[in-house]
Amino acid sequence: MHKLTRLVRFSINPFLQTEVEGANPYASRPAGEGLSIFFELSVGLTGSLDRATGFVMNVLDIDETVREYVVPLFAKRIKADYKKAKHIGLYELAEILKLSRGKLAGKFDKAVLSELTLKLNPFRKLSLDCSGAAEDCKMIYFGEKFEFAAMHRLWNDEFSDERNFALFGKCANPTGHGHNYVIEVTVKTPPKGNDFCIGDFEKIVDDEFIKHVDHKNLNVDVSGLSGVNPTVENIASFAWDSLIGKFSRAQLHCVTVWETDKTSCSYFGHSQ
Ligand code: NI
Repeated sequence: MHKLTRLVRFSINPFLQTEVEGANPYASRPAGEGLSIFFELSVGLTGSLDRATGFVMNVLDIDETVREYVVPLFAKRIKADYKKAKHIGLYELAEILKLSRGKLAGKFDKAVLSELTLKLNPFRKLSLDCSGAAEDCKMIYFGEKFEFAAMHRLWNDEFSDERNFALFGKCANPTGHGHNYVIEVTVKTPPKGNDFCIGDFEKIVDDEFIKHVDHKNLNVDVSGLSGVNPTVENIASFAWDSLIGKFSRAQLHCVTVWETDKTSCSYFGHSQ
């Protein structure tokens, strides 16, 4: 079984009668003209390979299908609601994603739509649970990235100096060193009527985790990390423990911590 993922980027200008199609799908198609709303839709398809082509699905067909069936859904809703000066919240966007999923059903030959994730900006995304029937979406997933800077030293007193330096390399530097960490917190919530609010979510992540680690020495200043090596794995589970049960209108689903662009760890913990 393979999972193929294709990103489809498009823009909606709520005030243009006719969208400018453009010729650069890498940036956005429709192109958007001047100030417009940019989306990136991640489409995941699972399936077996076609022996003749080596494809799960031709990505050009994915693009064409999304642009034919999904982009007009977004355009119609956004243009109509803008005309009425109506707010489009996360639940309304989830509703459009659900409709999109219905429209895409059966359009990819034998491949199965396994993921539909809408990037609202480079740091925020909204995903639909595609595991059940299209009309039976039990959960939506909202993920957002935060940054914090901290110093740490990786070391185990029970090991010899030689072993510590061999094991932890530069991270064993005696006076420590810093990282610009990024953490993505993903929560899940039923697809309607739960009043999940991004501002409240951000405040909880900031109060319960970021403030405790940002510009801190993780070996010394953070009681929740005392006695453990502040590896990216341990920071991820500490973040999970700090945030579990803290969201009144959503459940924690996953935390991912990047120590560098090259190193990250996701932790799914245990169910609440
Ligand atoms: Ni390090």
